[in-house]
Amino acid sequence: MKIHQAFAVKFNYDIYFTENMFSNNGRIFSEIFKDKNSKIMVFIDSGVADKHTGIVKQISAWFKKNQERGAYISPVRVPGGERCKCDRKTQRIIGDSLRIHGLDRHSFVIIIGGGAVLDTVGYIASITHRGIRQVRIPTTVLSQCDSGVGVKTGINYYNTKNYFGTFTPPYAVINDFRFIRSLGVRDVLSGVAEAFKVAIIKDKTFLNFLARNGSALKKQNAKAIKKMISHSAELHADHIAKGDDPFEMGSARPLDFGHWSGHYIETLTGYTLKHGESVVLGLMIDMIIARELKLVTVREFNKVLEGLKAWDFKLWHPILEKREKNGKLSIANGLEEFRQHIGGELNLVMPDGLGKSCLLKSISAEQIETAVKEMKNENTK
Ligand SMILES: NC(=O)c1ccc[n+]([C@@H]2O[C@H](COP(=O)([O-])OP(=O)(O)OC[C@H]3O[C@@H](n4cnc5c(N)ncnc54)[C@H](O)[C@@H]3O)[C@@H](O)[C@H]2O)c1
Repeated sequence: MKIHQAFAVKFNYDIYFTENMFSNNGRIFSEIFKDKNSKIMVFIDSGVADKHTGIVKQISAWFKKNQERGAYISPVRVPGGERCKCDRKTQRIIGDSLRIHGLDRHSFVIIIGGGAVLDTVGYIASITHRGIRQVRIPTTVLSQCDSGVGVKTGINYYNTKNYFGTFTPPYAVINDFRFIRSLGVRDVLSGVAEAFKVAIIKDKTFLNFLARNGSALKKQNAKAIKKMISHSAELHADHIAKGDDPFEMGSARPLDFGHWSGHYIETLTGYTLKHGESVVLGLMIDMIIARELKLVTVREFNKVLEGLKAWDFKLWHPILEKREKNGKLSIANGLEEFRQHIGGELNLVMPDGLGKSCLLKSISAEQIETAVKEMKNENTK
């Protein structure tokens, strides 16, 4: 006997872009929280809670005024940054909070924070009762333009980034640009790195825009930063919806250019380098390899290099030179870790000219050596 099962589950969610999510009498909240009598629990990144002291009060005031929309539960503060993805105690507290307050699959968690808090709370909410609905309010450049609008959650385990994780589309996402103003330069740049990543492999015009706007940060050009976030989020969302593989069933990760080494570099530094800071080193390694393989011209390579320099990215870190006992560069281990994470055979996303991509089946130890040597030389110029 054989029963053939086939069914499709449709997902859809809205991503709002706003200067103030409570404007127009909280129209965005009214649109999202349409159900009656849901339980609503807020988890907030400690970094956001410290800088935006009124935000929790505003949310609780909205639910107080709209009591029929949900039973609002006191917010839980989650330590911000990569530590929450590594810290079991924090993760336990998140799970305990959901249990103590009896949240079920008709409840909502509202997650306010950077990519790390969104990943951590998102992961625990997604495995609690097999999935509690989540409304994400990303508060960093990276999470607004990339992670927060996507479908992945995860925590770090066995010293491996995102070892445990799920594919869980959010119920809704609110990108409120006000949060960006309180970020430090390193956290803004971390997000710009992901924007460069997607531009190099998907959108040449956007890459030109990024390369031209390196002074946006120094000049506090909010308009340019907002355009960068919204366009990058659009490219990201578009890829998930139309790329034919939202839950990455195949062996390619078409958006993960520069990430095979980026993730590994981040772990090797014990997370002292931020995600985007590590990704930008990964981008440089792959750009050098792409140029050597003639996937991009010298001119195209220089355009990316100058573009990154204009934003004052640090394009070197001593960890790149770390070697294993057998003499091999440690970052080369990132290739196998990346392959395992995706499953199947190794497929590395590389630029094919600018604004387009192709897949590469392997990278040699010599190619990695050459790239690291060039990056070191460039740094000492
Ligand atoms: N799920 C995905 O698809 C995906 C994709 C890319 C990256 N990520 C993950 O995202 C994480 C990086 O996220 P990130 O760059 O947002 O950094 P982050 O979450 O590590 O936050 C950085 C710091 O900024 C603070 N912070 C957050 N918002 C703030 C605000 N508005 N004002 C002041 N401080 C604020 C945090 O408390 C933290 O100290 C990594 O763990 C990475 O693996 C996930």
